[in-house]
Order: sequence, then C-alpha cells, then structure tokens
Amino acid sequence: MELAMNHVFLLFSLICLPLLSSCVEHQVHIVHFGEHDGSKAKHEIEDYHISHLASVKGIEVEEARSYLLYSYKNSINAFAAVLTPNEASKFSGIDGVVSVIRSEPGKYSLQTTRSWKFVGLDEERQPWNFWDRDRLGQGLWKKAEYGRGVVVGLLDSGVWPESESKSFSDIEMGAIPKSWKGLCQTGQEFDSCHCNRKLIGARFYLKGYEQHYGPLNTTLDYRSPRDVDGHGTHTASTVGGQKVPGASAFGRLAWGTATGGAPLAHLAMYKVCWAIPHMTKQMENTCFEEDILAALDDAIGDGVNVLSLSLGINKPLPYTEDSLALGTFLAMRRGIVTVCAAGNSGPVRSTLSNTAPWVMTVAASSLDRAFVGPLMLGNGMLIEGQSVTPYSLNKFYPLAYAGDVTATDVPGNIRDLCLPNSLSPENAQGKIVLCALGGNGTSFDKGLEVRRAGGVGLIIIDTVMMEPDAPTPVNCLPTTKVDFDTAITILNYIRSAKNPEARIAPAETVIGRTPAPVMASFSSRGPNVVDPNILKPDITAPGLNILAAWSEGDSVSMSEINPRTVEYNLDSGTSMAAPHVAAAAALLKAVHPKWSSAAIRSALMTTATQVNTMNMPITEVTGNAANSFAYGSGHLVPQRAADPGLVYDAAFSDYQDYLCDLRVSFSNYSCPSTKTVSSNLNYPSLQISRLTGAVTVKRTVTNVGPNHEAVYISNVQEPRGAFVAIEPAELSFDRIGQKRSFTITVIADYNMKSELDGEYGLGWYTWTDGVHNVNSPIAVSLG
Ligand SMILES: *[C@@H]1O[C@H](CO)[C@@H](O)[C@H](O)[C@H]1NC(C)=O
Ligand SMILES: *[C@@H]1O[C@H](CO)[C@@H](O)[C@H](O)[C@H]1NC(C)=O
Ligand SMILES: *[C@@H]1O[C@H](CO)[C@@H](O)[C@H](O)[C@H]1NC(C)=O
Repeated sequence: MELAMNHVFLLFSLICLPLLSSCVEHQVHIVHFGEHDGSKAKHEIEDYHISHLASVKGIEVEEARSYLLYSYKNSINAFAAVLTPNEASKFSGIDGVVSVIRSEPGKYSLQTTRSWKFVGLDEERQPWNFWDRDRLGQGLWKKAEYGRGVVVGLLDSGVWPESESKSFSDIEMGAIPKSWKGLCQTGQEFDSCHCNRKLIGARFYLKGYEQHYGPLNTTLDYRSPRDVDGHGTHTASTVGGQKVPGASAFGRLAWGTATGGAPLAHLAMYKVCWAIPHMTKQMENTCFEEDILAALDDAIGDGVNVLSLSLGINKPLPYTEDSLALGTFLAMRRGIVTVCAAGNSGPVRSTLSNTAPWVMTVAASSLDRAFVGPLMLGNGMLIEGQSVTPYSLNKFYPLAYAGDVTATDVPGNIRDLCLPNSLSPENAQGKIVLCALGGNGTSFDKGLEVRRAGGVGLIIIDTVMMEPDAPTPVNCLPTTKVDFDTAITILNYIRSAKNPEARIAPAETVIGRTPAPVMASFSSRGPNVVDPNILKPDITAPGLNILAAWSEGDSVSMSEINPRTVEYNLDSGTSMAAPHVAAAAALLKAVHPKWSSAAIRSALMTTATQVNTMNMPITEVTGNAANSFAYGSGHLVPQRAADPGLVYDAAFSDYQDYLCDLRVSFSNYSCPSTKTVSSNLNYPSLQISRLTGAVTVKRTVTNVGPNHEAVYISNVQEPRGAFVAIEPAELSFDRIGQKRSFTITVIADYNMKSELDGEYGLGWYTWTDGVHNVNSPIAVSLG
C-alpha cells in the first residue's frame, strides 16, 4: 500500500502549491483515543476513525477518507489525518480524545553524532566483555542461549540485510517464534528473501514523510526497508548481529570480532527515518511522528519482545504531546521492554529526551579503547594524538599553524579554523596543517580544506573538551587530534624551530585505557523536565566509537570519504548506547521469560555500576566525578542483571495511577480518589523535586531469588539537603516471588537550602543480603 503515491498527497498538492510554504493551514495531526478496548473488530476501526473525521470536517465519509494517512488498529487507538488548526481544536473537545498532536518535521530524529570513521581493530574487546568478560562469555550469554527465541524490534533507518558482513546471517538461529505475526515487506531492492531466521521482519513507513516532502526521491533513499544511511544497520547489528570473526571497518589494520549483544536474538526492522531531500545526506535524516506511531502499532501487533529506539524527540514535551510516549505506553502494557536513546544534547543540563518511566532512557559513555595517532615532531618529541585514520606519513613533512598559512583576507579570530577557502595553497602546499576545531565545520570539512590547499596532513586541535573520540578522516589525508595544551606545545615548537616538521605515524588501537568508562560529553543530561519526580536517565552504556555493520548503500554519498563501500563503521551517539541495553534486555528476557518490562528494567538499573575499571567513580571528560543526572543508576553490567536479588516490579495499573497523579489519562481508566505524588511509582530510583517539609513514598520489592529465604538490610547515603529514613529497615523473605513493601520518608533540611541554591542533592539507598546489592539513586531538590 505504501508503494503508490497516495491520493492524499495528490489532493493535498492540488489544494496548495508549492507544497511547504502555503500549507500551514493543512497539517498532519494525530488524534489519540488511547487504546483499543476490543469492542470493535479491526476492519471496523478505520470506518470509526473516518466517521469522526467526516463529522468534524463536515464532509462525506468518502471525501474524508482522502484526508486520512493512517488508522492505527492494533493497540494504539489513533489516526493521523490532514486537519486545519480549527478542526484540530474541535477534536480536542470530543469525548474519548486523549490528545491531538500536530506533526512537525524535525520533531524526531536519530540520536547519532554522525561521525564517520574507519578503523581496524586488533582486539576482541567489545562492550560485551568490558566488564568481567569471562563471566559474561560463559555466564549470561550461555544461560540466555545468546538471546535465542527473543524478538527485538528496531525503529530506525532500515537495514542492509546482505550478509557479506554476515551480521544478519541466520546460521545457528532457532525457528521463528510461532507467535510472530510480522512480515517482510517488499519494495525497492528488497523482497521477502532478504528476511531469514535472523531478520524475521522488515517494514517501512513513509506516508508522513511524503505528505510533507512529496514522493521519496529514490536516488536518495530506498522505498523499502533497505538502509541507505547506515544507522539502522549499525544499531540492528549492535543488538543482535551474529558473531563475525574478522570484522573490520578498514582492512589495512588487523582484524577484530564484531558481535551483537544478543547474537541469537531475532530482529525486526521498522524503517521510519528517511533521507531529507536537498541535504547532504551525511548529516540529515528525519522521522515523522505519524510514521513512528504506525511502526510502533505494528511492532506491538507483530509480537516483538524488546523495542530498541535510537531515535527521539528533539525537545522535551509532555507525554500528551509526544506520540512516542503514548505508543510505548501501550507497548509496556503488552510486556514489551522499550529502550530509548537519551539524546545527544549534553553536556547541557535538562536536555534529556524519551523520559517516560515506562521506557529505559540510555546515556552514552566510552569504552576502555582508544585510537592513537602518534605524531612525531622534528625536535624528537613524540605526541600521542587520537586517530582512526588508516593513513600515515612515512617521512617528515613541513608543519604549519593554520593561522600562519591562511589567505590574507581571513579575519584574525577565525584564521586557524581551516574554514572553506580560507587556506592559501601557496603557503599550505605540502605541509601538515594544525587547525582548530570550531566554526561551522567538522573535522571532516577541515580535512577537505587542507587537502584543497594541497596540505599533506591534518592535526585537529580540540579546544573545548578532549572527548575520547577521534576525528573523522578525509580519504588519504593522515589526521590526528590533540588537546589544547598539546596544541600549545606544538605551536611553541613551530614558532621556535627554523624548519618545523612532523610525521603522522599509523594509527593504533589501544585497549585497557583508563579511566573508562567516561561519560560522553554529548550525552543528554537530567534533571528530567517532563516529570521532575522521575529520575532520568536510567543507565549508561557504550556509545562512543562503536564498531558495527554498516550500509553498503552509503558509498553513494560518502564516496568522498571512501571510494568503496564499507561493511563496518564506527559511530557514536546515545543511538549506539541504546542497542547495548536492548540486547541486555533481550538476554534477560531469554533467561527470565516471565519478567515484566518493569522487572527487566529494574534488574538492569539496580545492578549497574558507578565505578570505572579502576574502581574509582565514573568521570566526565573534565575529570570530575559524573553523577546520576549523567548516568542514572550507573553503567550497564549485564551479567549482574540476570541475578539482581530483588526487583521493583510495576503493572500497567501502576503506570495508570502514575498518570492519574499527573492528571493525564491515556485510556479509559478511573483514577483512584486518593491523590499521591508521581514519585510513588514503584520505580528503581527516587527523585523528589521542590520538597517542602516531608514526603513519604512507598516502594515494593519482589524477591527473585535464587534463594527462597533471604534477609535484606537497607543502607542510605543521604543526599545533601535531605534526611532519608527507610521503614522497615530490614526485609525478610521466605519464598521466591514474595513481595515486601517499605516506605522512604524524605525530610527537607532547610539549613542546606541556600547552599543547594535550587540544585538537587544526590544520594543512594541500597538493599543488601550480603551477595546482592540493589542500588537506587536518590535526587532531591528543596522547594
Ligand atoms: C533526487 O536526488 C538526486 C541526488 O541528490 C538529484 O540529483 C535529483 O535531482 C533528485 N530528483 C528529484 C526529482 O528531486
Ligand atoms: C557559520 O554559518 C553561518 C550561517 O551559515 C554564517 O552566518 C557564519 O558566518 C558562519 N560562521 C563561521 C565562523 O563561518
Ligand atoms: C470505559 O470503561 C467502562 C468500564 O469498563 C465501560 O463501561 C465504558 O463503556 C468505557 N468507555 C469507553 C469510552 O470506552
């Protein structure tokens, strides 16, 4: 049905041309009715939606049909249609309508930093063996049979299914679960034979995209589940790619092993993000809200167990204005674990996206791996830069500071930025050029400029922060990156030497780097502004320089970087972190098939670690200790999560009560008359904002073993500005599955009010039986 340009578009373009400018009056809106109550058969639902549409528009049913983009039929009771603002406001008043949301281009996007790098890996150190690698390899992976039988759905840019990369081969895969209802949608260069027992579903959604941009330009993107971007292929193989010995993004260096976190889990790709026309595809793609919702509705209906969403809303909005929040709410009802990227708007505070308590919000941090691009100066000094470029210089070349080799008309304050056409070929020819990061260009753009001017090498100065991240290389241009202090050393050398020169040696992969993990500076931070009584993010996972499969279609626009196609690439972003957690959730689902999504999230969160591989607090790139607004409960430790001791479980009705506290209703649910606070949701962390006096919240933990009899003792590390009391302080269990409740009373310490100055005080509470430590962060601000 998506194959033909739909008639809505035709009608629409007749009413208002040109498409974008004069059409503000007619925009796609999503009218949410909550969930389907089962009273209507599927084939009746569309008619029911259209009858609403016809009555509000005051037109005949058949005419109304042409304004409809989607009628969501599985779980989500909603439709997307072209409405005027006036019609939209009429819908808001109709009984049963939960929310009317106007779809806006650019509201959602993939959460990648779009770096583009090549590297050869000479080691097998993947996120999966970052912590206690022997225990994971032989423990959780085996126990979970590598995720066998679990289905992970991804909403992303599609998938490059050919298994020359072998990531999506179905060797050793088990049978497709009988309950699976998904399909392999055919389209441009994609048909049912591209699915197998690994990739069991593939669909695409672009009615919203085409309503806005017009028909897809099929030279820019495939009208099918096929991925031209690379992002979806990367996230899918990170979750569930097969173990591929010898994977390498660039063959020159030695080989490593690329593997997904749940290598025997099934995958289903729902393509919702598309290349934006008239943009250099390198940076731009977009995902429309109505397309995302259609994919979510299908994924729920198809029977996925875990959803991995490396996309998100670009600014925090209330749940009722965010279809991703509304849709994932119903996914939670079906027991689906939804894992979302936290966003890449850090290190600025309060920048998180995807903060609903029924999803896991994942921050990004580094691995203990560095890519070193050694730089030798003519005076014998050896500098360790950062690089993933496979190119090097086998002899010394003249070295110049960009500020000294620019054209004369370039203003002084931007002379060293290597902006387009700023270098003087006469002066830069044959030289290694030292350029500062900044201005509008990326390291890649600066490389292009250095090459245009005839330079032979590039040293990037990263003045802002030394992210443990390497620059994006231009084809055949040796590149390395140094921090500000090192740049000053190099500059002093250039100024003092008669004939300054340097050499860039081949890049090397170094593992066991410390400190690690370090929070990625781009990772979005709390506190949560959508609901300041829910602590977010939930967890952090590797999201910096992650190696995974890539789209071979990407060579079209990336030919500048690499003339050939690439099967593996390094990429960074919370987009790369989320699939690590989704994979861990899939493993847990395989080990504990009966656990709810809340139980799985709880297990992952309460067992996360706050210390790095040196047993010191996890840090920010500045070297300061990171906190719960950066990493939530800490860094993912999948093998511990399989045996958490206790879990904070929550049922659908708990989330409905939670919404009642916010005076939000997503469904036909009668709220309890007693008012509580949203902090009362049985969440594995605790945040109380603007506390006045004292508040008491309730929590319930379930003993998940392995012992029937267990005694847990509480332990509190109070946040600044509050006193915390847990009652009872000891919990005893005599069987697995038994629940015990306790209260946490938090009392404001007003003596600290001026010192806190509106900030949150951060602390922890822990239940321990001597073997399991069940950790929960606490954040409190005073009112
Ligand atoms: C489609 O994209 C290609 C590549 O950017 C461009 O050359 C072509 O003009 C576009 N076609 C249309 C119809 O816009
Ligand atoms: C960055 O781009 C903007 C808009 O394209 C331009 O006005 C500005 O001068 C550019 N800044 C630099 C440093 O090039
Ligand atoms: C809401 O639920 C009640 C009780 O389950 C039912 O009687 C009523 O018809 C429902 N209303 C709607 C609009 O679904």
